[in-house]
Amino acid sequence: MQRQQNNFSIGQQPAIRIGQEFGTPLYVYDGQKIVNQFNTLRNAFQGMPLRLKYAAKALTNLSVLKLLRQAGSDLDVVSIEEARLGMMAGYQPEQIMFTPSGVAFEEITEAVELGIGINIDNLSMLEKLGRKYGSAVPCCIRINPHILAGGNEKIQVGHINSKFGISIDYLPEILRIVKSHRIVINGLHIHTGSDIKQAGAFMQGANVLFEAAMQFPDLAFISFGGGFKVAYREADHATDIDALAAELVPAFRNFCNKYGRDLEIWFEPGKFIVSEAGYLLVRVNVVKQTPAVTFVGVDSGFNHLIRPMFYDAYHEIINLTNPEGVLRKYNVVGYICETDTFAKDRQLPEVREGDILMFRNAGAYGFSMSSNYNSRPRPAEVLVYGGKAHLVRKRETLEDLVRNQVIVDF
Ligand code: LLP
Repeated sequence: MQRQQNNFSIGQQPAIRIGQEFGTPLYVYDGQKIVNQFNTLRNAFQGMPLRLKYAAKALTNLSVLKLLRQAGSDLDVVSIEEARLGMMAGYQPEQIMFTPSGVAFEEITEAVELGIGINIDNLSMLEKLGRKYGSAVPCCIRINPHILAGGNEKIQVGHINSKFGISIDYLPEILRIVKSHRIVINGLHIHTGSDIKQAGAFMQGANVLFEAAMQFPDLAFISFGGGFKVAYREADHATDIDALAAELVPAFRNFCNKYGRDLEIWFEPGKFIVSEAGYLLVRVNVVKQTPAVTFVGVDSGFNHLIRPMFYDAYHEIINLTNPEGVLRKYNVVGYICETDTFAKDRQLPEVREGDILMFRNAGAYGFSMSSNYNSRPRPAEVLVYGGKAHLVRKRETLEDLVRNQVIVDF
């Protein structure tokens, strides 16, 4: 492993100083990096009628949503609450697509009333939507293309055993419902997984959609979902967006020719936009030697960053306060009263109690998957943008933990 970088900065602000000023545990986001990632995608598809619907679930902080809106993004949401957060951040309802899984029909009608786009992922809801609104409310259909794509089992969602989407085998049933209620299908959609590196997986999905699309005369767009891979380790390769565009654009143009009209091309990236821009700063509470290993216990746990425990995800760790230290091996663990190992046998510059460590790639599915387990408040969030570190979410307090509790008089 290479020596760690001295004076690590986030948007030109020294990371240590941010940690010292705002305290730990702390999520920090580099706003310019977020905008740059957005522009990388936009530029790769330049000249195409492209819409990027940032997958809000990756990181829903209102200031981040606002930043992306100003950069030109639309939004993909999975709950009515995410939709409302989007609207609080200034998105117009027409910019928002609701792509839920397994929600009640009432939630779908609430989204319809708000005027946001609807993406349907099961036949039962399609039938209900048709019965209630007929041709008055157009919708998109999420197709399950039966494709095995994505990093690991937990994040592969386009295969035949996945709960997501309507199986491509049920195309005749979809068409029967659409016809009987005169539903206007304005888009077809796939999302097959997260951490998809190869352009080939997107192309496989695209071909399934192109063929199905010929049955739907009212389409305005095709959505290829999100799932672009980012580099978690130095040796990792992210999805090559230019290579993907080089394959997908001609295929899409071909399809549009055959279809007889130019359609919009949509993506819903989450990780690609915010993962690398985010950092989790933690403080070392204790360095604990056992006969077998040396543990580094930090002031965080799977209540704040669950990806290592839930997906075996690798997050690079930087010792901000002792970058020149002698390299040693550690198990970096949290303060949760369960096994919450962030990293095993990780080589780090000597770690001392009080050091500030920083997890990289913490922007996506970090804060948004956090919890209050062990009655721990969630961290504060800071957005570095325009040469300044802005507090964009206050650290939770004990009052936040008890706010909705009711003590009963027995
Ligand atoms: N569109 C839909 C319909 C989705 O379900 C998702 C993610 C995305 C877009 C964005 O995917 P992305 O570009 O972020 O890979 N929590 C896991 C990833 C689960 C993603 C769930 N759906 C993780 O931390 O790896």
